[in-house]
Amino acid sequence: MSLLYLVDEEEKMSERIEEGLKLERELTMEFARVTEAAALASARWVGLGQKNEADNAAVEAMRAVFNTIHMDGTVVIGEGEMDEAPMLYIGERVGNGESPQLDIAVDPLEGTNSCAKGIPGAIAVVAIAKRGCLLHAPDMYMDKIAVGPAAVGKISLDAPVFENVSNVAKALGKSIQDMTVVILDRPRHQQLIKDVRACGARVRLITDGDVSPAVACAFEDTGVDMMMGVGGAPEGVLAAAALRCMGGEMQGRLWPENEEDVARAKALGIDDVHKLLMMDDLVSTDDVFFAATGITEGPLLRGVTYTSKGALTHTVVIRGKTGTVRFIEARHRFDKKPQYAMKGCIESSLV
Ligand code: FBP
Repeated sequence: MSLLYLVDEEEKMSERIEEGLKLERELTMEFARVTEAAALASARWVGLGQKNEADNAAVEAMRAVFNTIHMDGTVVIGEGEMDEAPMLYIGERVGNGESPQLDIAVDPLEGTNSCAKGIPGAIAVVAIAKRGCLLHAPDMYMDKIAVGPAAVGKISLDAPVFENVSNVAKALGKSIQDMTVVILDRPRHQQLIKDVRACGARVRLITDGDVSPAVACAFEDTGVDMMMGVGGAPEGVLAAAALRCMGGEMQGRLWPENEEDVARAKALGIDDVHKLLMMDDLVSTDDVFFAATGITEGPLLRGVTYTSKGALTHTVVIRGKTGTVRFIEARHRFDKKPQYAMKGCIESSLV
């Protein structure tokens, strides 16, 4: 084999690697477009009391943009099983079918009630990872605890509340009184809320949407230090993806309510439903992207705001490989994007 041939092959290989990296970097912007589209479409329904319509609009817009992206994506966390969801169902292929092969977790409208009521807490969110690296979380509850990078290794879902809160406070260099713990306002959390208050920490109760406060733990200026409590398992994986990118920590444990939940978990390959799920169980790679756009305001993102010419969106995109966090404020012109000017269907040709 000639030396020239080897040099030629080496050059081709490095061109391919360079091309792959370029594609990956470009994906960051593509995923921001995906969540922006879902947010713009569902924002039309904010405060109108019609959560299904808002959700459908987000799903349709998200799917349309996903299908413009160069990737071979498979939805592993989505809108439900194929027979219960027409779009973004589990197992649906999205993208134009070209490499890279990716697993996709979506919640086109996380916080449907918040959107319908026009109150804080609704976002459009996705996580994308190398194939096989996201937990295929069943649609059921999960007990969760989340913290940012400074408190990694200081939490355990099995530890008493006081131990967790005081260890995190120490790690953050704060007094317990300065800590803010976000918890979903649900009757099932009565004891947890009491316990956190008994530690002396501040509790911020939220009506819906536990993904953004979990992610907010990784950003000091959001004022959120911990997220605790039982919420959706799919939402747990989405939040874990962002925390993995940021070097934070999340632990979870499925919270089956009946035999059907247990069977659902087993069908997705989770044999031990009581297993403590660590970060590596939830998201097993740093090769992961997270993107979210605010629909209504929240601890991390502003909601969609309308202007005389169009709308503003606020998006965060995080790339796990590099740890780069981008906040993107986009200005959308409705004369150029008429599909977002009013409620209605998103034509993929217009996206
Ligand atoms: P939806 O977007 O499906 O309405 O979920 C919102 C949410 O608040 C999640 O953020 C949270 O994990 C879960 O619901 C909590 O479930 P529940 O409302 O049943 O307590």
